[in-house]
Amino acid sequence: MYILGVSCYYHDASAALLKDGVVVAAAEEERFTRKKHDSSFPINAIKYCLKSQNITIKDIEYVGFYEKPFLKFERLLSQHLETFPLSYKVFLSSTPSWITEKLRIVEKIRKELKYNRDVLFINHHMAHAASSFFISPFERAAIFTVDGVGEWTTTAYGVGKGNEITLLKEIMFPHSIGLLYSTITAYLGFSVNNSEYKVMGLSAYGNMNPKTNLYYKKLNDVVDIKEDGSFRLDMTYFKFHYADRMPSKKLCSLLEGPIRKKESELTQRHKDIAAALQMITEELMTKILKYIHKVTKEENLIMAGGVALNSVFNGKILRKTPFKKIWIQPNASDGGTSIGAATFIYNAILGNKRTYVMKNAYLGPCYSDIEIKKFLDKNKIRYTTFKNDTELVKKTAKLIFEDGVVGWFQGRMEWGPRALGARSILSNACNPKMQEILNIKVKHREKFRPFAPVVCEDDALKYFDCDVPMPEPTDFMLMVYPIRKEWHSKISAVTHIDGSGRLQTIRREQNKLYYDVIKEFGKLSGIPILINTSFNIGGEPIVCSPYDAYKCMMGTGIDYLVMGKFLIKREDNKKDVWNSEIDAKD
Ligand SMILES: [Fe+2]
Repeated sequence: MYILGVSCYYHDASAALLKDGVVVAAAEEERFTRKKHDSSFPINAIKYCLKSQNITIKDIEYVGFYEKPFLKFERLLSQHLETFPLSYKVFLSSTPSWITEKLRIVEKIRKELKYNRDVLFINHHMAHAASSFFISPFERAAIFTVDGVGEWTTTAYGVGKGNEITLLKEIMFPHSIGLLYSTITAYLGFSVNNSEYKVMGLSAYGNMNPKTNLYYKKLNDVVDIKEDGSFRLDMTYFKFHYADRMPSKKLCSLLEGPIRKKESELTQRHKDIAAALQMITEELMTKILKYIHKVTKEENLIMAGGVALNSVFNGKILRKTPFKKIWIQPNASDGGTSIGAATFIYNAILGNKRTYVMKNAYLGPCYSDIEIKKFLDKNKIRYTTFKNDTELVKKTAKLIFEDGVVGWFQGRMEWGPRALGARSILSNACNPKMQEILNIKVKHREKFRPFAPVVCEDDALKYFDCDVPMPEPTDFMLMVYPIRKEWHSKISAVTHIDGSGRLQTIRREQNKLYYDVIKEFGKLSGIPILINTSFNIGGEPIVCSPYDAYKCMMGTGIDYLVMGKFLIKREDNKKDVWNSEIDAKD
């Protein structure tokens, strides 16, 4: 039985395909259209899912959609009415797309896909809950979903047991941790639904002491937090309920300054505000989680929703709350809900037993060595071929050890916002200048943002103060942990200002070549840790195809591309070739 899950029209549209309860393919639309956070109907992601299993739309028994559009539209209408005439402008600009597109999703699915069976709509927070719980290793768990907003819900908790999920309590719009975080993100001059993680990174530069951080006290006036973690926002500080997520004048005056302009200097005040926001978010989440534990008495915790990508807090959960184990799927934000829509149909609605646990995030397109070679030859790209995996591993590790920046393109593309060793840029974590080199050559990103380390799971505890046993979300780069002090200066390229690292751990059975390259690098350098950053240029989605990877290398300072069993050097190839002669369809 095949079930297709679809999420679109907000941000990060995606499709996921379930075969007898097993997620066999999943991808975000942005990887195909090359538009970051593309929200449009994921026709390319759907085509990929079908092609990956050699099936057609006739084989799909159900399509699941990640929210209930009419319920969401009802909320929008009601908030426009309540705040009229302030909402007038947004009402006029946003309503047409609801009438012509968002409320007509069934027609769209039928027409675009030529599909004539059932389309089922899953409540958004249920889709989040199902997207994590049903593919987790836990038979039972407490579930916590937290995002900007779904239809009406912004925060929910419940319990998952076998193939059932019961949501017990919800907090409704406009009271939202996600929208609070996004509003301060906008105040600090970063883009919403995109750069919240930058604010999280910036917070480490601010005053993280709630007793002396002035803005912590000020932001506490904005959020009223009860002991059970329920909360209310003082809406006089916000505009998102009638306009956008820019802060109100009242919030600007509370925070003692105007909205920061995008490229302007980040002052200590901005950093302290980011720290205050992170502290309040952590305090809120901790109180809610303690309460959820008290009510559910479950030892295992499942999280989903955009706020579940707050890896700084995630790394503290098992230390701050009574939960013993935690699991979060790699695509915890809206992009991941296509899996939730499909699994909810298969497990909860149809009552099938769970048969699948997500062990790795490699669910995207794959290109064989034959396909890669065809692409290279057709476009007269110069390359050499590794004799075998041993040579590939040894040579790649040596290039990284000699401070080369390596584009690493192997196997199926990752699911979710993080590069996890299929479409990664790898470099030397032991070179203190590597952060600067990567920024000059490829990433051009803000200096305050550290790069992330990857380490083999069996080496992790030597370098990082991780939870024991290691929680699986570390596989997906979803946990920030302290780096042990003695290693700070030796791997400074991946050590954040507060001594932490957003690490990925890897086991050999998940990705053999990736694991072996890290180990081999360790033999050369004495420290088996690499910088792992996403294979893209800032502002673009992670590369998907050989064409994207080659184009990215030739348009940046990436030195080498290790793609399948082929090594391509940038200096061996002419920069202008990719512009004119390469067929993007390859
Ligand atoms: Fe969401």
